[in-house]
Amino acid sequence: MHAPTQAALVTGCALALGACKPSAKSDAAPSASASAQRGTAQSPWLIGMSQCNLGEPWRVQMNQDVKLAAEKHPNLKVVFKDAQNDSLRQRAQVEELVAQKIDLLIISPKEAAPLTQPVAEAHRKKIPVIVLDRGVQGDEFTTFIGADNVKIGREAGKWAVKALGGKGLIVELEGLMTSTPGQDRHKGFREGLELEKHPDLKVVFEADMQWLEPNARKEMESALTTQKKIDLVYAHNDPGAHGAYLAAKAASRDKEMKLIGIDALPHEGVEYVKQGILDATFLYPTGGVEAIDTALDLLAGKSVPKKVVLGTRAFTKDNVSLGGEAIP
Ligand code: FRU
Repeated sequence: MHAPTQAALVTGCALALGACKPSAKSDAAPSASASAQRGTAQSPWLIGMSQCNLGEPWRVQMNQDVKLAAEKHPNLKVVFKDAQNDSLRQRAQVEELVAQKIDLLIISPKEAAPLTQPVAEAHRKKIPVIVLDRGVQGDEFTTFIGADNVKIGREAGKWAVKALGGKGLIVELEGLMTSTPGQDRHKGFREGLELEKHPDLKVVFEADMQWLEPNARKEMESALTTQKKIDLVYAHNDPGAHGAYLAAKAASRDKEMKLIGIDALPHEGVEYVKQGILDATFLYPTGGVEAIDTALDLLAGKSVPKKVVLGTRAFTKDNVSLGGEAIP
């Protein structure tokens, strides 16, 4: 199932008389000194988990998924850091974890650019690095795990076209546009809308709500003031869609429009669809379990793919009681 192990890669290089890059080793295994001592219940592997914030329910869920998956393995110990939505703090925390001699780093970065360098430095020190959900720039990390945000955005766009019959006025409330899911969910949505084919479909208001419900509510208040009619709101996450709903409801305009979001946590987005607050939400899995599975492979010296793409599902009022619908 997995690509050749580190041992196989190293042997392959030796046979090819230096044809392989020496960096092949860094992608497979932790540093030799640490690996000689750790990996038992008495002396477990030390995993550093750098989380960009715990102010949003989805991230609390991610940490919980990591924690529960790791607890099944007595040879793993996870140290959690919460950057409280501050990229500079997250940089410092990654450096601290590296100084603590972790055997492996899992990071869900707030923003791509500021976290690229500390991640690359950990990787250069031969610490395997799993980048989870939001990306960094370049390729100096071991593996990326996350769902395909362009695809999710595209599905949301196609859903919007269908729900509106190809005609209507749209508000887009974006996630932080310095983070990769914000950029990708925007790009995919516009692809799915195919505005060039739908002259009566217009995005009339667009704002960055930075993934935060209170910001989304404020931006939606501006949209409601400037736009006499809104047919659909696409928010890049469910807290954003809920913020938009609260603003529309306060203005007695919630019935006028359809609302769609992303994340589909059972106790958040899926619940909103059940209650008729949202019309659709798309699953964005946390990847916590997959991160621990991948960590175990890496700590065992196995190679893993550079990218692990997680699936998604659509939840609407028609399918929510059936657990949503898988998107191929
Ligand atoms: C939580 C969150 C989720 C979103 C993800 C994107 O911080 O905003 O709502 O899907 O981050 O990285």
